[in-house]
Amino acid sequence: MTDQPLSGKVALVTGAGRGIGREIALRLARDGADIVAHYAASKAGAEQTVAEIAAMGRKAVAYRADIAQRSEVVAMFAGIDANPGRIDIVVNNSGVSSSSALADVTDEDIAQIFGINTFGPLYIVSEAAKRLPNGGRVINFSSSVAKYPLAGAGLYSAAKKAIESFTESWARELGRREITVNTVIPGAVSPGMMDASPEYRGYFESKTPAGRIGRAEEIAGLVAFLASPQASWVSGTHILANGAADT
Ligand SMILES: NC(=O)c1ccc[n+]([C@@H]2O[C@H](COP(=O)([O-])OP(=O)(O)OC[C@H]3O[C@@H](n4cnc5c(N)ncnc54)[C@H](OP(=O)(O)O)[C@@H]3O)[C@@H](O)[C@H]2O)c1
Repeated sequence: MTDQPLSGKVALVTGAGRGIGREIALRLARDGADIVAHYAASKAGAEQTVAEIAAMGRKAVAYRADIAQRSEVVAMFAGIDANPGRIDIVVNNSGVSSSSALADVTDEDIAQIFGINTFGPLYIVSEAAKRLPNGGRVINFSSSVAKYPLAGAGLYSAAKKAIESFTESWARELGRREITVNTVIPGAVSPGMMDASPEYRGYFESKTPAGRIGRAEEIAGLVAFLASPQASWVSGTHILANGAADT
């Protein structure tokens, strides 16, 4: 087997300017893929990701879109059609969490959490479905919080649980073209959104047998497997990567 199983493929990674998405983009590039590094606010981060990938001898380009806005997703795909001109792998990594008491939930919270975590991936895969070749890959992101909901995180849990439902349906629809669709369900991981919540980090460390949280590169490794030819018969599944934490 080649050590560059993704050679000749192009992968779109959303949120590739920081956190887990950045590690995924770098890993898929190391595995031979050219990369579309999407970002929303992290322009400098995405440009850094692109520069590091170019230094590996791979092609990479950055595109900005607020994925909660369908028109921006459509515009991004028009850009992808022009350069690099194809897409084989979609990694729906972008996501935002929230925590608030039920009584305090605002319309803005609802629009943001469902817009970015749920509708964004829907808009992206709706566009990608028109372009992915037979044997393509879609990798969605849920959260262990959807499996073990925390008080105050109901919006985030529900938005991520909806993704798992999308995965099961899309796998059956796109499976006719041997496009696989799977969900990665990370537990607490750094670098990533956990870094903004030291109190949560300590909680998850205490609930994990190894006494630590996950590393973004460990999630990237799972994504690389799902993107690879080896995973051609793995579809419609949700894979929990949380070091056997019981929360
Ligand atoms: N880290 C964890 O502990 C953990 C645990 C479970 C699940 N997850 C999931 O793993 C994925 C990556 O999380 P992370 O930890 O890397 O998070 P992060 O470091 O907070 O990064 C969030 C990413 O989402 C992107 N994003 C935010 N708003 C966006 C918008 N409107 N449109 C498009 N993209 C937007 C950001 O891009 P910009 O910076 O460019 O705005 C950024 O790349 C998420 O789906 C998250 O829910 C993470």
